[in-house]
Amino acid sequence: MHFDTIIKNGTVVTASDTFQSDVGIRDGKITALAASLDGAEEIIDAAGLYVMPGGIDSHVHLAQPSGDGIVMADDFASGTLSAAFGGNTTVLTFCMQEKGTTLRQSLTDYHAKAEGECYIDVSFHLVVTDPTSYVLGQELPALVEDGYTSLKVFMTYDNLRLRDDQILETLDSARSSGALVMVHCENEDAIRYLIGKHEQSGDVAPKFHALSRPAAAEREATHRALSLAEIVDTSIVIVHVSNRQAMEEIERARKRGGKVAGETCPQYLLLTADDLDAAELEGAKFVCSPPPRDKESQIACWEGLQTGVFELFSSDHCPFRYDDASGKLNEKGKRSFRWIPNGIPGVETRLPILFSEGVSKGRIDINRFVALSSTNHAKQYGLYPQKGTIAIGADADIALWDPRKEMTITNDILHHGADYTPYEGLEVVGWPVRVLLRGRTIVDGASMTGTRGQGAYLPRKRSSRTRL
Ligand code: URP
Ligand code: ZN
Ligand code: ZN
Repeated sequence: MHFDTIIKNGTVVTASDTFQSDVGIRDGKITALAASLDGAEEIIDAAGLYVMPGGIDSHVHLAQPSGDGIVMADDFASGTLSAAFGGNTTVLTFCMQEKGTTLRQSLTDYHAKAEGECYIDVSFHLVVTDPTSYVLGQELPALVEDGYTSLKVFMTYDNLRLRDDQILETLDSARSSGALVMVHCENEDAIRYLIGKHEQSGDVAPKFHALSRPAAAEREATHRALSLAEIVDTSIVIVHVSNRQAMEEIERARKRGGKVAGETCPQYLLLTADDLDAAELEGAKFVCSPPPRDKESQIACWEGLQTGVFELFSSDHCPFRYDDASGKLNEKGKRSFRWIPNGIPGVETRLPILFSEGVSKGRIDINRFVALSSTNHAKQYGLYPQKGTIAIGADADIALWDPRKEMTITNDILHHGADYTPYEGLEVVGWPVRVLLRGRTIVDGASMTGTRGQGAYLPRKRSSRTRL
């Protein structure tokens, strides 16, 4: 036998091409692409299906310490199970530096949480919250050499945010070592002022979360992040962009020669601030930052996906249970939006939403879908061409996609640990019907055929944008 598995009769789709081809797999790798292949232990008939690289979601929060009795709804087992059913084969999650500790200590703890738990492959971004001279001068360069080649900094959240001088120091260190920096752009001082003002007026319902985090606060911080990156000549990613004003800052920076990539997420295509104004406390289900905006912002985000301002479409999966004292409806959260944990689930619905709303409705073509959902993530974050494409030598991480399958998204068909989905009742066309991880079928229809622990940890090369 030449192959362990052959996928026959499917339509192979990459970020650049669509063609009829069989796919031969051996020892977990794609070893042949040809009109007709024979000689395998296992033949998978993919007639009528797209054969696409498995999704790579480069913005996922799992098992993250959330403080104050708040518990994230997904650990590595449930989060990667959910991701697999959504057509993904790799997720990049965040290892948060606890203030007063080193990055290495945080990594030791975070690796222990993931070890033996994952259904798909994982890799970690660092989150720098305490950029001491030891962290930036000693640890970061060594960690980049060890394959931790990206990091996130926050401009908001009192306990996480960095000052501008700290951001500059972090960007400078990242440039020297070749790390790619992701930036959460919102102006913390403006937000804190508005939160206080709303609370003083007794305006404490979930909808005031959105009103406390206006687009101008995101635009201003986006402009500042881009300027700081320009000053020290560092490549950055502006993550979870929610509106036109922030998007235009990215476009303007690019015109000046700025090295910036943009990311947007499903919530900015489908939700609006009105969702936070749902009856009772239901609006808490949609509390995330930046908040969803309005219909015009949705149109802008689609434009960004079409024109290339956004190269990344990620979930920002950050799940908390709704009806739970350790989640959205914690005792303090019921009294003020300030205490509702920020974040919503979405790792399983990201690809069906982009396919249905994007490809099925004619907003983007199938190759752009693959670029936005897989290939660009691999390229930005140093996994390409091992991951993110259908090519000889690549890992056989493959999603077989039925472009005609009609599904209604409801929480009961999903596998995450949250007790709700923000997209309840959404009808979609197109669904992943089989998923292979390194050549092995891990999802077959509604069944998990893989095993917990089969997912590997992936050290990464430097981003194609920061290679030294
Ligand atoms: O509300 C959100 N997005 N929570 C996740 C943390 C982050 O800022 O990405
Ligand atoms: Zn963020
Ligand atoms: Zn996030």
